[in-house]
Amino acid sequence: MIDIHTHILPGLDDGAASWNDTLDMAQAAASEGITTIIATPHHANGTYTNTAQDVAEHTHAINEQLIAVGVPVTIRTGQEIRVHDDLLDAWYRNELLPLAGSSYVLIEMPSSRIPKAMIELIHELNILKLKPIIAHPERNAEVVKHPERLAELIEAGAFAQVTTHSLLGGFGKRIEQSAWSLLQTGCIHIVSSDAHHIVRRGFRLREAYDAIERRMGEQWVNYLQSNAKSVLDDISFQNQPAASESSKGLVHRFASLFYKR
Ligand SMILES: [Fe+2]
Repeated sequence: MIDIHTHILPGLDDGAASWNDTLDMAQAAASEGITTIIATPHHANGTYTNTAQDVAEHTHAINEQLIAVGVPVTIRTGQEIRVHDDLLDAWYRNELLPLAGSSYVLIEMPSSRIPKAMIELIHELNILKLKPIIAHPERNAEVVKHPERLAELIEAGAFAQVTTHSLLGGFGKRIEQSAWSLLQTGCIHIVSSDAHHIVRRGFRLREAYDAIERRMGEQWVNYLQSNAKSVLDDISFQNQPAASESSKGLVHRFASLFYKR
């Protein structure tokens, strides 16, 4: 399996604090069957700054250490980039990193709302041939209340990543419901862990895929896993499987929203 959103690099943010934490996480990932992890330390979120060069240097060093201790996991470079006014200029200054050298970038909205200029930003990123993936929209209060607003962002050219812990109830019932509802209405393209620490917040990727298989069928697991691989291969995501019966009503509502525009 491939995990495109993690905080596994030590000492850069609120994820792994030390090499031992990183090693624990890498071993836990390997034992779940995760082979490639994209490290996405927080960047420009008001607390943490981890520019492209910092992340690349840390990733290189950690991969050497993992090889030395024989843990069969490869770390690739990335960032979880907070949406901010300077984002496009920061891209031109080479401070930002796409995911694993691809054209996909992981962007994070504030947890309370969708920024006003979000659609414009998505268009600007698309013009730069970048494909924005919105991190855990199920944890954004405005999306929870108005999921059709996430659908509008996707229509504008964004993709969305749901977090394993949200699907598995780790952030409470409301976020859990939001996560499943977004997934079942076709608003989610990738599942990933946003892992920070093996005890506080581990991977649970296998567990989440198993839950998705039970509720939505194997074709959705294949779709989501194939998309995670497409990030590494820098190719387009697959077409989505047909919506499950239970979600057709919501899909209809979203479809009518787009039809009106
Ligand atoms: Fe994260």
